[in-house]
Amino acid sequence: MINILISGICGHMGRNVLDICGQEEGVRCVGGVDIAKAALPVPVYAGFDGVKEPVDVVIDFSSAANLPNVLAFAKGRGCPVVLAATGYTPADLAAIDEASKDIAVFRTANLSVGINLLQKLVRQAAAFLGESFDIEIVEKHHRLKKDAPSGTALMLAESANEAFGGQKPCLYGREGMVGARGNEIGIHAVRGGTIVGEHEVLFAGEDEIVTLSHSARSKRVFAAGAVRAAKFVAGKPAGKYDMHDVIG
Ligand SMILES: NC(=O)c1ccc[n+]([C@@H]2O[C@H](COP(=O)([O-])OP(=O)(O)OC[C@H]3O[C@@H](n4cnc5c(N)ncnc54)[C@H](O)[C@@H]3O)[C@@H](O)[C@H]2O)c1
Repeated sequence: MINILISGICGHMGRNVLDICGQEEGVRCVGGVDIAKAALPVPVYAGFDGVKEPVDVVIDFSSAANLPNVLAFAKGRGCPVVLAATGYTPADLAAIDEASKDIAVFRTANLSVGINLLQKLVRQAAAFLGESFDIEIVEKHHRLKKDAPSGTALMLAESANEAFGGQKPCLYGREGMVGARGNEIGIHAVRGGTIVGEHEVLFAGEDEIVTLSHSARSKRVFAAGAVRAAKFVAGKPAGKYDMHDVIG
């Protein structure tokens, strides 16, 4: 049984992780840490100092600002950590590198298992299909999303581009008399309603099209990815790990 401590347990993602821990075999949530208060079925501490329970893995879904506390606790306990918060600064990334000399640190920009698999498939497809297939990426998100295109779309473009030595430029949308298509990877952002996240990568060749796609139906996929990551990283030696280590 893997004992999990959830940092940021009162938030959207933290609660989803708690939920999944209650359903998954082989893991249990022993408690959480959060500056907010909530009545949850496990102990919630205001700081890491209060944690008395045995902890095998920390899952952090709080905020980048909490990184020093998370790393200090994990290093003190000698336990692996899954860093799922976003917005790390270069100094944070250096601190993560440093910590990974002492403990196992799992970090990825996208915890959806499916997206990470899609990234691998896109890399393979681009290498297999080569220059004779044009690559277009279409991503769809809810109306409130602020940035475009999504970071995941850019990540997928980068993966496809690996087959071409990173030489293909990205082209964001088309309008007007743009002329015949060039050597680019086209990226298009659709916004509307409550779409959680859709990514489609088209490889369009002569008289045939290959389409690879992923659809996120709820934030739960990220929580499930975090628990899967925790299971993977539990008991691992010091070092840096990401979703590709799990899938690979
Ligand atoms: N890597 C991924 O795939 C992925 C997916 C979804 C969300 N995220 C990231 O996870 C983080 C949390 O997302 P969310 O939607 O659950 O946000 P949220 O605001 O709903 O929850 C964050 C929780 O962390 C707590 N918190 C914040 N700072 C804290 C601190 N210093 N100490 C203790 N607790 C603290 C808050 O009180 C809150 O309960 C964000 O950084 C988000 O970008 C990453």
